[in-house]
Amino acid sequence: MAHTEQRVAIVTGGARGIGLGIGQCLAKAGYRVALWDKDGKGAAASAAKLRDTGAEAIGLGCDIGKVVEVEKAASETESKLGLPYLLVNNAGIRHRARLEDLSRADWDDEVAVNLSGAFQCTQTLGRRMLAAGKGVIVNIASMSGYIGHPLRGAYSPTKAGLLGLTNLTAVEWAARGIRCNAISPGIIVTPAHDAVYSNAEASEGRRAFVPMGRLGDPSDIGDVVVFLASDSARFVTGVNIPVDGGTSQTLISLMPTLDPQGNQLKAARDVLSAKPI
Ligand code: NAI
Repeated sequence: MAHTEQRVAIVTGGARGIGLGIGQCLAKAGYRVALWDKDGKGAAASAAKLRDTGAEAIGLGCDIGKVVEVEKAASETESKLGLPYLLVNNAGIRHRARLEDLSRADWDDEVAVNLSGAFQCTQTLGRRMLAAGKGVIVNIASMSGYIGHPLRGAYSPTKAGLLGLTNLTAVEWAARGIRCNAISPGIIVTPAHDAVYSNAEASEGRRAFVPMGRLGDPSDIGDVVVFLASDSARFVTGVNIPVDGGTSQTLISLMPTLDPQGNQLKAARDVLSAKPI
C-alpha cells in the first residue's frame, strides 16, 4: 500500500498468537515484516507463511530478555529489510501462582521478558528511529495492567510497567518524530490459552463474559496496530486503547441492581446479554 511506503515493521513474539495476527495484518497493509521470537523455528515458519501470501517477511530467533540477541536481531533485520519504522512490543509470558507463593525466579522471569525485554527493544530500535527522525512503537499491554489479575504471578505489575514505559517513551520522543502507544487486548483466543479453550464450558463462560458476546481474534488487535502505525494516527501518542469488546467496562453491570420497573436483578448484565452468563 502506498501509505506505508514499504515500511519495515518488527513484531516480537511473532511466531504465533497475537504477534502472528499482527504480522499478518501488517503484511496485508504493505509492510515488510520481521517476526522475532524466542522460538526461532516457529518464527521462520510463520514468516514463510507470510511470504506465501506475497509479503516480504523474515523470521528470526531472538530472546528479547537477552540484550545481545536483541542487538543481533536488530542488525540482521536492518541489513535484510532496511531501517525499522515500526516496533510492536508483543512478546509476553505469564506464570501461574498466588502472590504469596510466587517464586522470585518466576517474578524475575516475567519482568525480564514483559518489561525489560520491551525496554531493550524500545531502546535498541528507538535509537535507529531517532537517528532517522521517524518511527512508531506499539506496546501490547493488557487490561491486567490496570485491573489486578489474580493467580497470574507478576503479570499485572509487568503490564502496568509497560503502560508506564509507553507514557515515558511518548513524552521523551514526541518532539523527535517518534510516537508510542499501547493496546490492551481483552480475551483473545491464542495458543497460550489452549488449556482453557479446549474446555467447552470454560470457553463458553469466557465468551459470555464479553459484552460484545464473542471472544477476540488476533486480527482484532492487528487491525488497531495498523491504524496506530499509519499516518491517520499522526497526532496520537501516549494513549492506551483497550481492544476488548467492552470487557474492561463490565464491573458495574455485574452487581445486583433494579431494572427500570424496580424489579430486582442479579446483575444488569442478565438483561443486557444476548445470551445470559
Ligand atoms: P502466546 O504465548 O500465544 O505467544 C507469545 C509468543 O511470544 C510465543 O511465540 C513465544 O514463543 C514468544 N515469546 C515468549 N517469550 C519470549 C521472549 N523472551 N523473546 C521472544 N519471544 C518470546 O501469547 P499471546 O496470547 O499471543 O500474547 C501475546 C501478547 O499479548 C502478550 O504480551 C500477552 O501478554 C498479550 N495479551 C494477550 C491476551 C490474550 O488473551 N491472549 C490478553 C491481553 C494481553
